[in-house]
Amino acid sequence: MNNELKESSTEISGLQMIPIDIKQHEFKTLMSIYEKALDKTKDELEEIQTSLNKVYKYNVINNIECRIKTPDSIINKMKRKNYDLNYKALISNINDIAGIRIVCPFKTDIPKIKEVIEKSSAIDVLEVKDYMNAPKKSGYSGLHMIGQIPVDIGGTSANVKMEIQVRTMAMNFWATTEHKIKYKAQNKLSKIDSKKMVFYARLINEIDNKISKINEKYSN
Ligand code: GTP
Ligand code: MG
Repeated sequence: MNNELKESSTEISGLQMIPIDIKQHEFKTLMSIYEKALDKTKDELEEIQTSLNKVYKYNVINNIECRIKTPDSIINKMKRKNYDLNYKALISNINDIAGIRIVCPFKTDIPKIKEVIEKSSAIDVLEVKDYMNAPKKSGYSGLHMIGQIPVDIGGTSANVKMEIQVRTMAMNFWATTEHKIKYKAQNKLSKIDSKKMVFYARLINEIDNKISKINEKYSN
């Protein structure tokens, strides 16, 4: 896992212990590598989307969203997690610079999507974080995969990490609204409001389960 981008261009490997400077050319070059990885992953996932939707005759994957983490957000996360502020620490510890979110209608779609991604020869899944069966303390639910994909950098191939989140529409509703509220509250929700959000996450989960069950009844 520490080989990411190590054997990439000399420019990048020469960067390893250098302090991160988001205004410098090196940072932009590094981000462009993550962008390439994101594009490649998206292409692969769109193929998966087409084939899953054909097999099951409905949109198992409803939509795919992609984003590159902003420089501020990268630096804030590294400070929050007490990582050294150099490129080596960035490359080996920040797995969600390239982030993909897959949204599906039913909870039962999540294992189907997970399975195909794990079987994909293009994406190498390094780690699965199952917040679907074990939600986070906040109430957050979903399935995360940390994966890597080879990217060509000036003739050499480097493995670039990315985070793939798989959520139902209902989980996505909770996470998106909770994120907006938390942002407004500068991350300081009152105890009572945090408890309410956990409660609503559980309610949403129950509804998700019930609707999935009805859907299964009519699937063959
Ligand atoms: P982050 O610093 O949040 O990226 O954590 P991490 O790298 O240790 O990974 P983790 O698996 O905890 O979560 C990564 C991502 O999941 C976040 O960037 C969010 O997109 C989402 N997520 C995790 N917890 C929550 C939560 O409580 N609320 C919301 N809205 N999203 C969450
Ligand atoms: Mg994140």
